[in-house]
Formats: sequence, structure tokens, C-alpha cells
Amino acid sequence: MYLHPRLLSLAADVRWRIIISAVVGMLATAAGVARLAVAAVIIVEVVRGNATFESLTWPLVIMAVLIVARAYLQYLQEVMSHHTASLVKVKLRERLYEHSLALGPGHFDSSRTGDALMSLAEGVERLEAFFGRYLPQMIVAALAPVVIFIFMALIDFRTGLVFLAFALLTLVIPNLFHRWNRERSMARRDAYGALGADFLDAVQGLATLKAFGQSRDRGELLAERARNLFRTTMGVLAANAATGALTILGITGGAAVALGWGAVRVADGDLELRALMIVLMLGVEVFRPLRELVQLYHDGVMAMSSAEGIFAIMDSPVTVRDPERATANGPAPASTALKPEIAFENVSHAYNEGRRPALHDLSFTLHEGETLGLVGPSGAGKSTIVWLMLRFFDPQEGVVRMGGRDVRDITLEELRERVSVVTQDTYLFHGTVADNLRFGNPRATQAELEEAAPAAHQHRLADNHPQRDETEGGGRGVGGCGGPEARDG
Ligand SMILES: Nc1ncnc2c1ncn2[C@@H]1O[C@H](COP(=O)(O)OP(=O)(O)OP(=O)(O)O)[C@@H](O)[C@H]1O
Ligand SMILES: [Mg+2]
Repeated sequence: MYLHPRLLSLAADVRWRIIISAVVGMLATAAGVARLAVAAVIIVEVVRGNATFESLTWPLVIMAVLIVARAYLQYLQEVMSHHTASLVKVKLRERLYEHSLALGPGHFDSSRTGDALMSLAEGVERLEAFFGRYLPQMIVAALAPVVIFIFMALIDFRTGLVFLAFALLTLVIPNLFHRWNRERSMARRDAYGALGADFLDAVQGLATLKAFGQSRDRGELLAERARNLFRTTMGVLAANAATGALTILGITGGAAVALGWGAVRVADGDLELRALMIVLMLGVEVFRPLRELVQLYHDGVMAMSSAEGIFAIMDSPVTVRDPERATANGPAPASTALKPEIAFENVSHAYNEGRRPALHDLSFTLHEGETLGLVGPSGAGKSTIVWLMLRFFDPQEGVVRMGGRDVRDITLEELRERVSVVTQDTYLFHGTVADNLRFGNPRATQAELEEAAPAAHQHRLADNHPQRDETEGGGRGVGGCGGPEARDG
């Protein structure tokens, strides 16, 4: 079976849990093997007609105990698996969110948010099955046949060899199809990401779509995306079913060959019926972990394709960082003395190394108490000036200064605390108007809210509603005032 090396490295912290989980799985298999060996003895005794109820009492009791023990061990393995998987998920989410925060709004502005969202939410969820079940089961599936084989070989070497050969074969078969499986599930992941991204776009831009009468066209695009997802999902299922079928063929083939050959040898007096019976019974256990692994294989492949999306986010380099000094010696001392003065010195900036710069050799100084109006056509670079001030991006050339200091020497937290922005496209979060107003200052008092509401043109919205400021706002918000306005202080 194939394993994604990088995905494995994510499990480094919980490797002991996975190993313990596998050991419990092995114990469950051992209980199963013992139960079947006892069953074989009982069957042979009954077939030969020399069994009485008394002589079978103890074997039956032992069998019952083994059945209960195995069920308990399986339950234990299941519980441990889920626990391990949720630990990995929590850690992974923390790492991903931390990295996403470090990447900042600049990064997500230039990538498709819907796709990233899929990886952050659904993608991580897919890994649960991988770490919790697939991985421990894989260890069991690789080890159990070997251990059982040793036990079998003690009873009858040749039948054991047949089983071992087929067991190893079934373990190898899926590898031959791995590329095919992987391609299919990558295609499905891309289709899923595309549908997610366009769906999010459509929901957020619903008003625009309606206003321009484009909702039908968008609907058709979404339908096409959904059909594509359906097609690729069927592709994944077909690849999985084919791999599964071949594995099952190996399992059944192994049992059939062992039975046929064993029967001939019993007829020839070469093998004892009891030995054949035990070995055949054990054959069921040799393949059980493999059968379970086949069922989990689909989850494994899906997890591996989700991992690609997750790694894509993790590998995106963080371009805007806190100053070195701040990270090395803790946060830099709060510069209360930072003068509310902004200066751009020969700043040039092009997005994605574009050929036409958004800003070219821009210089200006805005002193305390001054107001500056920037006027220009759409795409002139007005917003870019504000984003550079907030360090969503760093300029490719030139320096942006606040209070005389290069903004790259001020911690991001301090910098962003000192700049307020009212964007063209205001986002209202789900919650009350008051909740939304509090984003500017979480500790604002009621009196301060009432003072701020008219400034944000929110007083009428709230006045018309019986709950006033506790009115719930929806998702994508109303348009705010045009043009960005920055206020230092
Ligand atoms: N995230 C981005 N990725 C790539 N290009 C971008 C990005 N943001 C802006 N641009 C490009 O940079 C240029 C300047 O854009 P900017 O948003 O600063 O203009 P603007 O003056 O604010 O326009 P508007 O009046 O429409 O708000 C434009 O050509 C725009 O297409
Ligand atoms: Mg703008």
C-alpha cells in the first residue's frame, strides 16, 4: 500500500498512539486467530463423531471468552483511533490557521478563497480517516499475515506458504494501480475545489448577478461544475472498485488454492484433517485485516489528494513578516511616540510581478492634521496605497514610513492598530449591528456605539428596526462609502 511521506510526517507527534492502536489491533487479530483454532478443533471432533457435550464444554467456554475479548479490543482500537485522529486534526488546523493568518489578506486576495476554504475545512476532515483508521490498519494488515503465517507454518508449512504468498500479493496489487487512483482523486479534488470556489462567488455576488440578469448563466456554469464533480467522483469510485475487486480476487484465490491443495493432501494421507481445518480457519484471519484495509483504501486515497491542497497552503511563502528584532526579543516596545505622519518614498509596486506597476515611483508626505484626497480612475492604484500602508503587501521598491519609521520596522499589530480603513466594499459579519460596530473597538461602551453609529451611516438602519442596535446583519454586507479612507491615530 502506498503512503504519502509528507502526510506521515504530520503524524510524527502521535506516532506512539498510532503504534499502540496497531498493537491493540494485533491483539484483536490474535484473539480472532485463537478463536478460529479452537473452532477448528471443535468442528473436527464433531465431524469425527467422538464429541460429547462434556468434552466440548471447555473449548466452547474458551471460544466465548475469545469472542468477547476480540470485540472489546476492536472497540478499544476504534475509540483510540478517533481520539488520535482528532488530535492530529486539531494540531493541523492550528498550524493551518496560523499560517493563513501570517499569509494575510494580501495572499488570499490573489488566490481563490473558495478553494482554500475547501482545504481548510473539508480537506482536514478527510485526514481523520487516514490517521485514525487507515494508518493503524495498514500496520496490522502488514504484520498480521506474517504472525499468522508463523503460527500456520508450525501446523503445516506448505499451506501456510500458499496463504502468505497470496496475502503479500493482495498487499502489493493496489500499489500497481496507485497512479491511476491518485490521478482520479486529484481530478476529483480539483473539480470539488472549482465547484466550491464558484459556488462561494455566486452566493457572494448574488445581488450583482441578479442586477445584470446573469443568474441563469451562472446557474448553468455551476451545473456544469457539479456534473464535472459527479463524473470525477464516479471515476474515483470506478478506480477504487477495480482495485478492491482485484484484492478480493487475490484473497479468494488464496483460500481456494489452499483448500484444493490441502484436500488432495488429506486424501493422499499426507496431511491430517485437523491440521487442514485449523490452517483453513486461520486463512480467514490472514485476510481479514486486508479486507478491512480495502474498505479503508478509498478514504486513504481521498486523504492523500486533500493533503495536496493543505500542503499548497502550508507551502505558500509568508512575504510580510514582523520585524526580525520583534520576533527575536519579543514584541518591540510600543512606540507611543510614533507621530501620526505618513510618507511614501519612491514607492513602486506591481502585483504578481506584473509588467505594468500599480504604483510607479510614488512620493508624498502627509503631516499630522492634514487631509489628503486621492482621485483617479478605477485601477489607478488608490487602494494599493492603503494596502501598502497596512502591509498587506510590501512594495517592490521604495519605503513607506509612519512617524518617520519604515513600516517594516513596526510590528504588524502596532501598525494595523494605528490605521483605520473604511473600504468601498464593507463586509457585514453575521451578528448584530452593534457586534459589527464593535470590530473597531471590542471594548466600546453603549454611549460610544451610539456616537459611532451615525458616522458609519448605520443609525437609520437600526432606527427602523424595533431591536435597534441588536438587529442581526446578514453575510455579505451593504456597500459603505466610496473610496478608501485612512485615519492615522
Ligand atoms: N490582489 C491583486 N492582484 C493582482 N492585481 C491587483 C490586485 N489588486 C489590485 N490589482 C491591480 O492593481 C492596479 C491598481 O488597483 P487598485 O485596486 O489599487 O486601484 P484603485 O485605484 O483602488 O481602483 P478602484 O477605484 O476601482 O478602487 C489595478 O490594475 C488592479 O487590477
Ligand atoms: Mg480601490
